[in-house]
Amino acid sequence: MNQTITTIKNHRSIRQYKNKDIEPKDLNLILEAAHAMPTSIHGQQVSIVVVKDEDKRNKISDLAGGQPWIAAAPVFLVFVMDMNKTAQAGNKNNIPQIIHESAEGVLVSSFDAGIAMGAAIVAAESLGLGIVPIGGIRKNPQEMIDLLELPKNTFPIAGLVIGHPENLSAKKPRLSIESFAHSEKYNNELVTKAIDDFDKEMEIYYEKRGDKSSNWSAQIAGSYKQVYFPNVYPVLKSQGFILDK
Ligand SMILES: Cc1cc2nc3c(=O)[nH]c(=O)nc-3n(C[C@H](O)[C@H](O)[C@H](O)COP(=O)(O)O)c2cc1C
Repeated sequence: MNQTITTIKNHRSIRQYKNKDIEPKDLNLILEAAHAMPTSIHGQQVSIVVVKDEDKRNKISDLAGGQPWIAAAPVFLVFVMDMNKTAQAGNKNNIPQIIHESAEGVLVSSFDAGIAMGAAIVAAESLGLGIVPIGGIRKNPQEMIDLLELPKNTFPIAGLVIGHPENLSAKKPRLSIESFAHSEKYNNELVTKAIDDFDKEMEIYYEKRGDKSSNWSAQIAGSYKQVYFPNVYPVLKSQGFILDK
């Protein structure tokens, strides 16, 4: 095992931070790592908005449904699905962009943003910093767009809190690696067994943490029985990602 893989395998989300700034050179390294990632068709359909301003972080903490770690940590990166740059490339060549109106455009730009966030996470953790990704910014996407002055053909897909950890949380277990990395073909029976095993493991994990008794499948079922961020679809459409192709 090398240091990079050790860092990656040691990941855990951090929700308690010291009141301490991040060195500008460290923040630059994190941004450069994300910037170096591959993108579909070299279209580079991702941007990051770096938010350090305390008032803005407080506001985002509220918009994300009350997530105090956004306000507590010194840096918040907003990962933006960005088909504005590619649309400008089209305009420059008098060729209107259509792809952002399709499912493919949404997939490509969200995937690029995800890859960039993955690199930012590894870079930050390799520097001894803590992170937690924030999908909660999609709870009130129009307010996020207004706050960050995002143009048409963009969408704020997720944020990343970065700061100095106050204390390390316990590493959270995962479904078995066999149900994640399938051999040659997808094995659905293995998935069913993995969920049964994982439910038992998570019950013990939650009990140890002193949480009310629950398990993974019950938690996920509770979350996914509704569209928990109903504003995503209408705001995606009003941003130009009309999803009719
Ligand atoms: C795209 C994405 C969005 C997330 N959104 C939130 C969020 O809004 N708030 C939060 O506290 N954690 C959020 N998380 C963190 C997950 O809850 C966490 O990764 C998961 O429980 C596994 O725990 P671990 O990261 O400690 O291993 C998010 C994670 C991802 C990848």
